[in-house]
Amino acid sequence: MIPDNIISEAENLRELIRYHNRLYYAEDRSEISDGEYDTLMLRLMELESRWPELATEDSPTLRVGAKPLSRFPSILWDPPMLSLDNVFSVEEFIEFDRRIRHELKLEDDPVYSVEPKLDGLAIALIYENGVLQRAGTRGDGSEGEDVTPNARTLRSIPLKLSSDLSGNLVVRGEVIFRKNDFQKMNKERKSLGLEPFVNPRNAASGSLRQLDSRITASRPLSFIAYGTARWPGGIASQHSLLDLLARLGIPLNPCNSLCRGVDEVEIACRRLEENRDELPWEIDGAVIKLNEASFQERMGTLSRFPRWAAAWKFRAEEAVTRLIDIEIQVGRTGKLTPVARLEPVFVGGVTVSSATLHNEDELCRKDARPGDKVIVRRAGDVIPEVVRSLGRPDGERGEKFEFPRSCPVCNGPVAREEDASAHRCMNPSCPAKLRESLFHWGSRDALDIEGLGSKLAEQLVDKGMVKDVSDLYSLTRPQLASLDRMGGKSADNLIKELEESLSATLQRFITGIGIPGIGRTVSGLLSGRFSDLQKLMDAGVDELLAIEGIGPVLADNLHRFFNEKITRDVVNRLLSVGFKPRGSGAGDGSQPLLGLTVVFTGGISIPRSEARIMAEKAGAKVTGSISSRTDIVVAGPGAGEKLRKAGELGLEVISEDEFLKLIRDGGYLFAKHK
Ligand code: IVH
Repeated sequence: MIPDNIISEAENLRELIRYHNRLYYAEDRSEISDGEYDTLMLRLMELESRWPELATEDSPTLRVGAKPLSRFPSILWDPPMLSLDNVFSVEEFIEFDRRIRHELKLEDDPVYSVEPKLDGLAIALIYENGVLQRAGTRGDGSEGEDVTPNARTLRSIPLKLSSDLSGNLVVRGEVIFRKNDFQKMNKERKSLGLEPFVNPRNAASGSLRQLDSRITASRPLSFIAYGTARWPGGIASQHSLLDLLARLGIPLNPCNSLCRGVDEVEIACRRLEENRDELPWEIDGAVIKLNEASFQERMGTLSRFPRWAAAWKFRAEEAVTRLIDIEIQVGRTGKLTPVARLEPVFVGGVTVSSATLHNEDELCRKDARPGDKVIVRRAGDVIPEVVRSLGRPDGERGEKFEFPRSCPVCNGPVAREEDASAHRCMNPSCPAKLRESLFHWGSRDALDIEGLGSKLAEQLVDKGMVKDVSDLYSLTRPQLASLDRMGGKSADNLIKELEESLSATLQRFITGIGIPGIGRTVSGLLSGRFSDLQKLMDAGVDELLAIEGIGPVLADNLHRFFNEKITRDVVNRLLSVGFKPRGSGAGDGSQPLLGLTVVFTGGISIPRSEARIMAEKAGAKVTGSISSRTDIVVAGPGAGEKLRKAGELGLEVISEDEFLKLIRDGGYLFAKHK
């Protein structure tokens, strides 16, 4: 029996915690300190663990995290979570508005809801009778990932709505990092020796899509709603919908506004763009929606977009800063890249202190010199770049940068490739190349060795402890523990990781040794064809050329790599430390999609789950969203946004029939060289 006073204490605590969550997230204020909040939470957790029957399914303690999952279940969206059509100029918006007025035969200018377009991850929250039941990501719009345990850890997502509501309500919105939370988190990560996140958007997506919800719980994510899947009864406009959500205690964007006609919309969008840097979260545009529900319904939707809304995209973010110096970086393949060292500047959601100048030609064209003010641009996930130089405020010019004719790291000869703008260091034992090769060896697609970061690789090379990758496997615990930022425990972990890497597949092994032009995809083809490394090393050019997807350049690179003494020696040393890289079988094509990432989109005649199993049996990894890592997109009728994205990224798109043929006949049909 639970004593009555305990029952009521727990109830009071839950009410109180919910109240403070609401204040903090929905109204952006708080009445108690973090410490006081924690005390309430800890007391409730204590009660619930002593009297487990006390725990309710909507208890705020559930936010702390739950047991890890092995994979996300899928969640279906009906109606689908659509995307938005873009407008890039006032003229395009005028056209959008004209179409609406014409089709709806409006005499007056319509009212629009203008909302910041938050740059995070879209999710939907399913409430039943006011209690959060499930939460899922947008995925491809029709099918997302069920991330309920993770969503429960976000304090801004109410587990219970604040006013009684019967029936089902699906709230849609964006999971984001507020800029200050993001910066604080990155600072903490750095102080713990962890890699900081590159930008809030990727970090939000990565943090919400963690299989272990305790990790999500440790990240300060926020949720901001912008709509619902269907119109709740009695609600006839976007404005009153947002009003209802606010009353339910759901956090909304405070910068939403209502505008009548094109001019007001333009002013609101420009204001958002101008104030973008001061806003507490990243935005990449404004969303303009017809306010009236009946107007939205009459305009309807296309397969991918509603015809009643548009995204007004802002230009890529640019900032002005001072160019301190130009340095040359030497990459794994010996490529020399001029990099601008900059006075740190906040642009596109991150603090940028270096930006690429690409190559000698670009550097000459931009004529950026140390001391100049330069414009730096950063869009989405791309590496920041120097757009152009504004010269120096005093009108003087610094020295013109001379592109080096020898490698700045090893002094080795530098050659410019024919028909290419890249310069490369030709010295095979250049330490910069070695450092990058070690780092690449440990990277995720290669041997996936946690702890083998760039700083460690640098020290190992600088101290002469490693002359090629095989030396990693004879490093001792005392040697490793003597390095900066390493202790006995990290040394032990690294040694364990290295030992585990010895059982890597042929695909990872080939990716890791870094043959020019041979990344994860081609390595997958090779390991689908050869049963072990020796067979691949012995293969002639003709045999390599016979593999679908491998053309003359790659065949030649492979052949040369395995026949050059210096590289063959490294491979042999790796074999002698214990590697036995094996491919998928006898080269009989039994796993024709080995190592490839496949995405299904649109309608296909076989059930998705079956198609997924077929692809997985053929060695593929099946994912729900398109990225540059996708190898094959299987598209059926009605494919929308994903197909467009695949086109943009230049991915291979095949039909269901082609997919089935691929699985039946084996062999990857497309040449795709990353
Ligand atoms: S409305 C059918 N409103 O933008 C309408 N979307 O390109 C689609 N987004 O995936 C959603 N802020 O995650 C809407 N105020 C806002 C938004 C917003 C950000 C995201 C959303 C969606 C993407 C569409």
